[in-house]
Amino acid sequence: MLNFTLNIPTKIIFGKGEVSRTGEIVKEYGKKVLLVTGRTSTKKTGSLNKVTESLKEAGVDFVVFDQVEPNPRAETVDRGGQIAREEQCDLILALGGGSAMDASKAIATVAVSARPIHEYIRGNKTGLWKELLPIQEALPIITIPTLAATGSEANSNAVITNWEMKEKSGIAGPALFPRTAILDPELTYTVSASYTADGAVDMFTHLYEGYMTGDENANVQDEITEGLMRNAVKYAKTALNHPEDYNARAHLLWTSTLALIGIANAGRGGPFPVHQIEHTLSAHYDISHGRGLAILTPAYFRQIIKKDRPHRLARLGRQVFNITQEDDAAACDATIEALVSWFKDIGTYDTLKNVGVKKEDLKLMAEETIRVSGLGQDSIAATHPLTAEEVLRMYEEVF
Ligand code: NZQ
Ligand code: ZN
Repeated sequence: MLNFTLNIPTKIIFGKGEVSRTGEIVKEYGKKVLLVTGRTSTKKTGSLNKVTESLKEAGVDFVVFDQVEPNPRAETVDRGGQIAREEQCDLILALGGGSAMDASKAIATVAVSARPIHEYIRGNKTGLWKELLPIQEALPIITIPTLAATGSEANSNAVITNWEMKEKSGIAGPALFPRTAILDPELTYTVSASYTADGAVDMFTHLYEGYMTGDENANVQDEITEGLMRNAVKYAKTALNHPEDYNARAHLLWTSTLALIGIANAGRGGPFPVHQIEHTLSAHYDISHGRGLAILTPAYFRQIIKKDRPHRLARLGRQVFNITQEDDAAACDATIEALVSWFKDIGTYDTLKNVGVKKEDLKLMAEETIRVSGLGQDSIAATHPLTAEEVLRMYEEVF
């Protein structure tokens, strides 16, 4: 097990109806709130109304910024940051999926520094991110997730897209840890079948990435990971069959938070190559992050993990999908088959062509993955350094 320091400063309030306490909780941290949310769903589902009612009841002054798009863009963040400054907000409240929560973290940063967010984005051409990350100063942030997927509600990361540059990458830093996360599973009842499934794949991927690439002497972490993966698989299916099953939604939400809060990967480490390869896809084609991961995972397992760490893939299969083959190579094949059949079962199995990707762009996207995520190297970190040619082969397999 590797050395590690784990600090999770986010207070978590979990449970049915807890959203109604928003006003009282927010009051502890600020006087004027910028409420950051997406363009449609929180109005349609009534969650925005629940939050604003609670703020009003508690006498909290607020301004709503409801312009965050899925795969949030740098220009939207800059606009939000400017509004926060003009309105003299001293707290950012995020309501929505990973996109609204990530945008909130970025807005909290820009509101303090008045610098455009693209300067902070890791791997950006300006190179300024080398000085600006990790982010030490931002307005306090409170999160209310409405979709179980990213874990952004209680971690210090955000992913922002510079659409002009076709760059999607992360910002991070201690100032981005939300002060409090209010996790009310009932807010996720209305998530569509496709986003429920994509979200389950996202949390599953957050779990398998470090499990595949990290230190192999971290059994506690591995068993935590396997337990969480089993829950993602089990409750995705229940939530799809019964969208208002509280227990299923509660398990999915808590699994997604725990998957990326730092506990599973502490002492294990390990890069997240599939995430980096996916981020290029959503930077170029604006597709759902979880769907991109579902498309890429079978190719990654077949082309990279089956060769580099077959025993890890075999273990995942045995622990999560009840694979019984004793021979690792046979267990790997059975695991990939079981994974694909889970993706098909929950309706997230897909191809690049089907989500609109053009074949002639694959080579450029493979090169862009290395440019943005390679941070000056000619490869990205994985079980072995992955080159543009290897990334291209993965894209081609799932085209
Ligand atoms: O667009 P709105 O109106 O907000 O509606 C959203 C959106 O269209 C809708 N939605 C959310 N909650 C709903 C709902 N619809 C009905 N009922 C509800 N309760 O769902 C759509 C997708 O929402 P989005 O926030 O984009 O999805 P997700 O939570 O998957 O977030 C994806 C973003 O997070 C980043 C991704 O790259 C992507 O940009 N990630 C952030 C991470 C982090 N901060 O740690 C890690 C992840 O690996 C990921 O990269
Ligand atoms: Zn993810």
